[in-house]
Amino acid sequence: MCGIVGYVGSQSALEVVLAGLRRLEYRGYDSAGAAVIADGGIAAAKKSGKLVNLEKALVDQPLPAGATGIGHTRWATHGGPTDANAHPHLDNAGRVAVVHNGIIENFAELRAELAGRGHVLSSETDTEVVAHLLAEEFSGCADLAEAMRLVCRRLKGAFTLVAVHADAPDVVVGARRNSPLVVGVGEGEAFLASDVAAFIAHTRSAIELGQDQVVEVRRDEVVVTDFDGRPADVRHYRVDWDAAAAEKGGHASFMHKEIAEQPRAVADTLLGRIGADGELILDELRIPAAELREVDKVVVVACGTAFHAGLIAKYAIEHWTRVPCEVELASEFRYRDPILDARTLVVTVSQSGETMDTLMALRHAREQGSRVLAICNTNGSTIPRESDAVLYTHAGPEVAVASTKAFLTQLVACYLVALYLGQVRGTKWGDEVLGVVRDLADIAGAVERVLADMEPVRELARSLAGAGTVLFLGRHVGYPVALEGALKLKELAYMHAEGFAAGELKHGPIALVEDGLPVVVVVPSPRGRSVLHDKIVSNIQEIRARGARTIVIAEEGDETVVPYADHVVWVPVTPTLLQPLVATVPLQVFACELAVARGNEVDQPRNLAKSVTVE
Ligand code: F6R
Repeated sequence: MCGIVGYVGSQSALEVVLAGLRRLEYRGYDSAGAAVIADGGIAAAKKSGKLVNLEKALVDQPLPAGATGIGHTRWATHGGPTDANAHPHLDNAGRVAVVHNGIIENFAELRAELAGRGHVLSSETDTEVVAHLLAEEFSGCADLAEAMRLVCRRLKGAFTLVAVHADAPDVVVGARRNSPLVVGVGEGEAFLASDVAAFIAHTRSAIELGQDQVVEVRRDEVVVTDFDGRPADVRHYRVDWDAAAAEKGGHASFMHKEIAEQPRAVADTLLGRIGADGELILDELRIPAAELREVDKVVVVACGTAFHAGLIAKYAIEHWTRVPCEVELASEFRYRDPILDARTLVVTVSQSGETMDTLMALRHAREQGSRVLAICNTNGSTIPRESDAVLYTHAGPEVAVASTKAFLTQLVACYLVALYLGQVRGTKWGDEVLGVVRDLADIAGAVERVLADMEPVRELARSLAGAGTVLFLGRHVGYPVALEGALKLKELAYMHAEGFAAGELKHGPIALVEDGLPVVVVVPSPRGRSVLHDKIVSNIQEIRARGARTIVIAEEGDETVVPYADHVVWVPVTPTLLQPLVATVPLQVFACELAVARGNEVDQPRNLAKSVTVE
């Protein structure tokens, strides 16, 4: 949440900062602002609304040129999305400018203290106190990094801060506690950003900052210390995402592009992890097989779409390994005193690796002595760094706020973990599982085939642009798919959508069904678990008899659904447990097209932000 960029070098700082903010706008888009050091002072501009408002304002009133600057795109926490609350925030003399991501929990007390010393604070934000505190500390030591360390020691909460001072024109200083911050190291220039996407057009050389560290960047120098000023160990790495991966590449939106990229993302996530004989190769997990054999419970914690991947993981883990598996919303987890010990394997699922709810759940699990395995898409982010083991998904950068390709790759990673656990524990490792492994290895092709035939789904979506409510039903792994379909529709099309276990319908939700109500039903394969299939076909008949317009996602060749379906979307034949990989895709396309038809912004839905770094 909130995108931050800092730059020092020889280019126009404002241009570099604005280009970086464009790439970070997915993190929040309530308001935006920038500040550069120029003519011995600080020149700043900020505007409520999207970045484009700031860009327009800068055309009317350009800032003077400078080679050191900072910028911010905001997802409001304290104080509404107004010009005054937009970042950067300056001290009363206008010598310091600060941008911030996170929440400073003790800001009220700091604000009162500053007011008592005569400071005038003009916004409702928690951030502004930092600008004033930094100005005070700098006046005592004339060293911006030292001033930042002194301030950070007084702050409670989660924060990434980036600051400049007019009296230190060649330096940008950053600080990190819990929220993300990375350093980009270029030739005679350096960058600070909440995400590498902000600087990959300039450099691939990056430094990961740790917890409670302060960084001071100059054109040719990067110095990192802890909050007490002790030199800190840092990890240099090369960013392997290229700049083109973060561009739309001819698609109407990032979300269109990311949906289309799913076959490749799925294939990349499987790459090198399935041996020729069907054996899973996950040595990267770093948890010895002996320890995995001791595991007596798996707990998956995640939020939103990643939580839905976790719900599907439960079916796979319990079926293939016979180890009990619980799935819990990360935001609820630590508050209910969960039963965890050294034999519990906690699996966190997170695209960003920065979701605060998930991070706090992981810390709680480790405090109880459990091993934590992270399934994550973002190399070097906090969740994998703090986990015992990590299985990276290789979806590439996901820019659209609503998760699509990350979800499919999370599913793949969950299946790999489940199969690997089965393999090392020797449970159910027979023909059924080897067949699943073979199908998983070929699944990218199946996803590709689904995508090749989406025009009827798009047409259907357009025809429903005026609908008020859409329901989604599923059984078994189709139930989390229904939840995911409803979530996508809510967040993109701003429509009322609910996902239900189809068997629950008769216990209440069927009262919602009325003439013309669109109901999407995810039908399991008629092979194997045919009882499940027959039951859901009955459910379709029940809702149709009450006037529902039935939209059925069914396996190719399953003619039994045709008499009861107003629309059928066919998906390739897969083992039941893998069906979510193909059944989710039409629901993503459906939600995306409905959002477009309703004139909504697909990549940046209202009120949302990617990478939710507050609890
Ligand atoms: C929905 C969506 C969110 C995220 C959730 C977790 O489309 O994107 O529900 O899945 O905020 O985010 P990560 O995976 O980054 O932990």
